[in-house]
Amino acid sequence: MNNQSTPNTILEAKGLSRHYSVSRGFLQGHATVKALNDVSFQLAAGKTLAVVGESGCGKSTLARQLTLIEEPSSGHLVIDGVDIANADAAALKALRPKVQMVFQNPFASLNPRKQIGSMLAEPLLLNTRLNASEREQRVREMLNIVGLRPEHYHRYPHMFSGGQRQRIAIARAMMLKPAVLVADEPTSALDVSIQAQILNLFMDLQDELGTAYVFVSHNLAVVEHIADDVMVMYFGSTVEYGDKKTIFEQPLHPYTRALMSATPAIRQEDRRAKMKLTGELPSPLNPPTGCAFSTRCPYADSRCRAEVPPLRPLANRMIACHHIENIAR
Ligand SMILES: Nc1ncnc2c1ncn2[C@@H]1O[C@H](COP(=O)(O)OP(=O)(O)O)[C@@H](O)[C@H]1O
Ligand SMILES: [Mg+2]
Repeated sequence: MNNQSTPNTILEAKGLSRHYSVSRGFLQGHATVKALNDVSFQLAAGKTLAVVGESGCGKSTLARQLTLIEEPSSGHLVIDGVDIANADAAALKALRPKVQMVFQNPFASLNPRKQIGSMLAEPLLLNTRLNASEREQRVREMLNIVGLRPEHYHRYPHMFSGGQRQRIAIARAMMLKPAVLVADEPTSALDVSIQAQILNLFMDLQDELGTAYVFVSHNLAVVEHIADDVMVMYFGSTVEYGDKKTIFEQPLHPYTRALMSATPAIRQEDRRAKMKLTGELPSPLNPPTGCAFSTRCPYADSRCRAEVPPLRPLANRMIACHHIENIAR
């Protein structure tokens, strides 16, 4: 991993934050949920960044900022060299097709009234000048690439299994050959037996089309399969970020180690001492002071409960922990 943006960088987040104002109910006014705090990364063309963490840590919020579904509260997003904060309407229109999204639930993300063929042709209709027969040809090519059959062209979403629906969603996201695909837990709604097939499809497509992925998952075993770089998030912030080999061979942050210990499918022999994750995620309406992980961390002391640890470089990765030099020995 490298922390400088290179000519090869296709997507860059610089200090992205997203805060939501939520009503606390009658007479109690509003509160702010800090769903995403100061998240930065660089993604090189054709590579995969995996974003991992428990439910509620801000993964989907990050995905929505990266795909321009929402505007960040602060920070910068740079797509293919263009900072979206400086992009006018025309530039934004040109940028949108470059970053596409696959959602977690293929049962909710496909329009039930549309045949697969016209659903897949839609992005071409809106964004290209291809005529009807050229569009049909491109759709048929894509059906083939994602492992669907020609006769699926005229079928409706309800006629497909979960795995096939996710293939359709992936095909739709790929129709404009985006430079970046953001996939938000794309296998976690599927049967375990189907998950590996869909993961393999993602990897084959990347080989074939050179698409970069931001792959969001709560499952480290999935991430180990597909990632080049790994970013571990906790309570809206990055706690550890580095290349996959570094993070998997020598996880340092107590939270990363706890996540690994909780993933039985990961080879444990040569990994450092097991750590058990106890307690619950704190409430976003009542965030802890200092390090967000301090309420669950066995190493936490008064400093951790008072000061937010900065994300800093150490041992080939970025890490946010006051005591890492002591506990990593
Ligand atoms: N639109 C929203 N309004 C208020 N709070 C939100 C909204 N979206 C997400 N959140 C809160 O932000 C936090 C992160 O949520 P999310 O990004 O969905 O996490 P994840 O995808 O990792 O499960 C959670 O506490 C969630 O309740
Ligand atoms: Mg989510």
